[in-house]
Amino acid sequence: MKNKIELYEKLALQIKSCQKCRLCETATQAVVGDGSLDAKIIFIGEAPGKNEDASGIPFVGRAGKLLTSLIEELGLKREDVWIGNIIKHRPPKNRDPLKDEIEACRDFLTQQISIIKPEIIVTLGRFSFNYFVPDGKIGIERGKLIDMGSYRVFPVYHPAAALRNKNFLNTLRSDFTALSEIMKLKNIES
Ligand code: URA
Repeated sequence: MKNKIELYEKLALQIKSCQKCRLCETATQAVVGDGSLDAKIIFIGEAPGKNEDASGIPFVGRAGKLLTSLIEELGLKREDVWIGNIIKHRPPKNRDPLKDEIEACRDFLTQQISIIKPEIIVTLGRFSFNYFVPDGKIGIERGKLIDMGSYRVFPVYHPAAALRNKNFLNTLRSDFTALSEIMKLKNIES
């Protein structure tokens, strides 16, 4: 089998040149993902925003700073984990991604996950959660570990939603505390 860096880089080129949906026409560039391909825990958001579209790196704006500090509170560095999105090109004016855009992009994240082979996927927000569990209700299932066979999904609120709502922020923080307990039990260090 080819090594994972080669596979990932080949996939990254496909993502960067993707024209499967309308978003490539308005975005500056695709945001492929960031971090370690050996990560046991990965974080999946919705879609790049303005700062991510400009830099090509996921979660670098205000929501990204919150996510980075929550990751550090887990005792990890940002470069120990992998961070990506279900949608690789920024939707105009940060609107919600459309169904056909999510479907056009679906296979890229599926392939990224099969290269990285994480143990835990932390989904950030409802779009990311529903990518894995289509009928799942984030308000009910957040903070619980869901067995998906070859990996487990741990849904939490989106950091951007937490920045807008104090209750969501408190819930996000307590879900990260629960996540840190789960990681200790499972002996996950990165
Ligand atoms: N919000 C997301 O869902 N993803 C990013 O990369 C940035 C903000």
